[in-house]
Amino acid sequence: MMRFVTTVLIMLVAVVPAYPTPRHEAGIASTQPLATEAGFEILKAGGNAFDAAVAVSAVLAVVEPYSSGLGGGGFWLLQQAGKAQAVMIDGRETAPLKAYEKMYQDKTGKVIPGLSMNGVLAAGIPGEPAALVHIAEKYGRLPLSQSLAPAIRIARKGFAVTQYYKRMARFRLHVLRASKAAAAVFLYRNEVPHEDYIIKQPDLARTLEALAAHGAAGFYQGKVAKRLIAETSKAGGIWSAKDLAAYKIRERKPVTGSWHGYRITSAAPPSSGGVAIIEMLNMLGNDNLRALSGVARKHLLIEVMRRAYRDRAEFLGDPDFVNVPVARLTNKRYARKLRETIDPLHATPSRDLKPAVPPPEGKHTTHFSILDAQGNRVAATLSINYPFGSGFMAAGTGVLLNDEMDDFSAKPGVPNVYGLVGAQANAIAPGKRMLSSMSPTFVESPDRLAILGTPGGSRIITMVLRGIIAATQGLSAQRIVSQRRFHHQYLPDVVQFENGAFTVGEILGLQSMGHKLQQLHYTYGNMQIVILDKARHAVSAASDPRGEGLAKVENIP
Ligand code: DON
Repeated sequence: MMRFVTTVLIMLVAVVPAYPTPRHEAGIASTQPLATEAGFEILKAGGNAFDAAVAVSAVLAVVEPYSSGLGGGGFWLLQQAGKAQAVMIDGRETAPLKAYEKMYQDKTGKVIPGLSMNGVLAAGIPGEPAALVHIAEKYGRLPLSQSLAPAIRIARKGFAVTQYYKRMARFRLHVLRASKAAAAVFLYRNEVPHEDYIIKQPDLARTLEALAAHGAAGFYQGKVAKRLIAETSKAGGIWSAKDLAAYKIRERKPVTGSWHGYRITSAAPPSSGGVAIIEMLNMLGNDNLRALSGVARKHLLIEVMRRAYRDRAEFLGDPDFVNVPVARLTNKRYARKLRETIDPLHATPSRDLKPAVPPPEGKHTTHFSILDAQGNRVAATLSINYPFGSGFMAAGTGVLLNDEMDDFSAKPGVPNVYGLVGAQANAIAPGKRMLSSMSPTFVESPDRLAILGTPGGSRIITMVLRGIIAATQGLSAQRIVSQRRFHHQYLPDVVQFENGAFTVGEILGLQSMGHKLQQLHYTYGNMQIVILDKARHAVSAASDPRGEGLAKVENIP
């Protein structure tokens, strides 16, 4: 009987649309103007938000080679108009079958610097090609070849080097120079190219064409796959044909929660983002943050961040390999208990945080947000990890490989490039997905919908948390992406902040409570957001002023 009732309930939930959205303008925000324009090109050709997502992802793979690409992976959060549930396409990279737990340690157990970051050994098996094929086939309206066409065209014709490109190429010059194929494409005579220099990628165009013509097999089998294995092996890599043939995307149920009348939908493991965000929002409970003084509010947020990142380090990993206690970590009672450990007047030193007791049973990457005129929506965060990934390009394929293996914990307690520590849950194992912080997110109430996310390594989660809070407070798209940022991640036990994030009074107040503050000499993040005001059927969008992106709202005839 119970089972019958549950089945009927599930059916009801499945057919009752969340919040039906009539026709309105379409909005796209991405980190690159050419990608945003390609998304609109596909919408105007009759594609839906999912076709546009394929086009935007593929163009980003061409024009933002330091952020994401066919050699990397990501999470695409999709929701079809009128459907109550979103789905997460997990196109995260996997550890090669020959990977092993201590592969980045020397004989004495010391982690070898750079090995999980630079060159061929740093690369996981790519997930983006499989994800794009899957999204087009299952959710799109147009053939994959049409959605990939803008990317193929731009790969052939080329794109112009920007200031940002130069900065990234300078930063990763040594790894790009170490790969002959990468240097030939991304550098000019082995140096950082000048602004407006045109980068053409005919090999990548051919690889995209193979994908368009043969689907996943065009990348994971056949000529491209053969070349990937030959080139990585020649360079001392450990990939095998079996790794590529075995790669599978996963469709996962996103993590959900509620806050101040909004439903929050975000990335499920192997991202830690959704779990940490819901856990933090639960700790904030029903607080009226705006009623608190600046210092009290920021202290509370920092303490909440500290606790969620402690749990991230302890419990989060690939759910296909370890048992991630999602329900327990996102349980509101558990959050209330954690909340009681926050001293309103003093910082809790991270080393004094008790080891997490399992609660009772119960620089680089990219993001884009799309809403089409029918209400289909996509939030996607894609990555090859560090700028230009591992720097290694498999000659003849145009594919720049990721260095996502660094997102594993190379050794318990030893921080990765983002200073994150991890435990057994995120140890390396063959075929396992490395833990991520990428957090594409939907925030929705009967009145408002926000689609958001950002790159930024470990800081993604706290940026998205504050984006969600701002969205629920009714801030405009532009103000949400422009907010000055601050961040705490449990270890190291410091609050990093952008210039202007705290007033002088707040700095003094937080210091007197025992917070260690570190002002950054740079800005971080590249948040992209699309907002629908449901009552007015009005769409707005914004692209982070820190980046070179383009947000646009247009009527699709
Ligand atoms: O999956 C992750 O959490 C990281 N690989 C993301 C890296 C990133 O955002 C770098 N951005 N600036």
